[in-house]
Amino acid sequence: MLSANPIKPRTSRADRVRPFYVMDLLARANQLEAEGRSVLHMEVGEPDFPTPQPVIEAGIRALQAQLTHYTPALGLPELRRAIADYYRRQFDVAIEPRRVIVTPGASGALQLALAVLLDTGDRVLLTDPGYPCNRNMIRLLGADCIDVAVGPESHYQLQAAHIERYWDDSTVAAMIASPSNPTGTMISAGALQSLLDAVTAKGGHLIVDEIYQGLVYDEQNHTALALNESAIVINSFSKFFGMTGWRLGWMVAPEMYVDAADRVAQNLFLAPPTVSQHAALAAFAPETLEILQRRVDIFQQRRDFLLPALRAMGFVISVEPEGAFYIYADCSAITSDAFSWCHDLLEAEGVAVTPGIDFGENAAARHVRFAYTRPVEELECACDRITKYIKKTS
Ligand SMILES: Cc1ncc(COP(=O)(O)O)c(C=O)c1O
Repeated sequence: MLSANPIKPRTSRADRVRPFYVMDLLARANQLEAEGRSVLHMEVGEPDFPTPQPVIEAGIRALQAQLTHYTPALGLPELRRAIADYYRRQFDVAIEPRRVIVTPGASGALQLALAVLLDTGDRVLLTDPGYPCNRNMIRLLGADCIDVAVGPESHYQLQAAHIERYWDDSTVAAMIASPSNPTGTMISAGALQSLLDAVTAKGGHLIVDEIYQGLVYDEQNHTALALNESAIVINSFSKFFGMTGWRLGWMVAPEMYVDAADRVAQNLFLAPPTVSQHAALAAFAPETLEILQRRVDIFQQRRDFLLPALRAMGFVISVEPEGAFYIYADCSAITSDAFSWCHDLLEAEGVAVTPGIDFGENAAARHVRFAYTRPVEELECACDRITKYIKKTS
């Protein structure tokens, strides 16, 4: 018998989660490719390189040894120690391994950090443009965001002055990513120290997403952990280590949050993926780091090709992206509607680029994000097609 009660609609929280617009673009790109068209991908936010061979081999050995059971919720103790040791060797920072929490990707770390920090109605300061999932995760927890419009003058990063201006009684945290997605720009160690001091003075927490650490070209890599014990640092094996599909990341949390994070992780994830954790133990080996460093040089060559090429076409990039693999370009000399322009470019020339709307509302119609996650030869070909398209439509 049919129930007389109407089916409960989706929650308003789920309804507030915004889609990735680029997914439609990707679906259309795949469709065009299936029809035999050539599509050049500049929308993809993951390295084109395979996982380094030593990591793959460690993963295979783990499978052969049948290491396929759950690990502790906070991760394998030896991996937590290896991550702490990596901070010591790379940054001369001593971290108690207990504070290192291994998670399913940086995504898991972000969920965990937000779940531990936020109550219903709490607010978090975020950059606009910024990584879009953060907004959605915050809303799913019944908390809210204060979007701070940032631009080239602050390297698209939050500054101490923003904390003074936007922090209110319901604000409990601020979030940044350095290098940033979508802009590739970094916060300097000095500006980060001021930001940390400003947030700490408010009694709040700064979440620093360092997922693109290692993929840094002109600047020195640095970590917020060197500056302040209260920073909550997010990182991942996805980007620099080339392990997106292994779904493994980590958080370094202040001691006072470790037990709560353990309880939340037990309930949200049970444990991070076991085989991936064993594989990741090989990620810090000198031979792996050598492979990864060669890739950093290749990413830098791609950036150094793409940046002047885009400028020559009329895109304005007023602050050099120092890291990650993105260039966030002002396209207002070319179009006033970046969203339609991305769709039309794909249809006309088979080049896929992400529209600014995926990263917030601040001047979104005037920006597009180019990812240089393809070889220089492909980027050259994509630039030829974009140039042709701009000439045709201007
Ligand atoms: C800034 C930022 N944080 C977190 C993530 C999530 O990465 P993952 O869950 O693969 O580690 C991404 C992915 O693109 C990102 O750009």
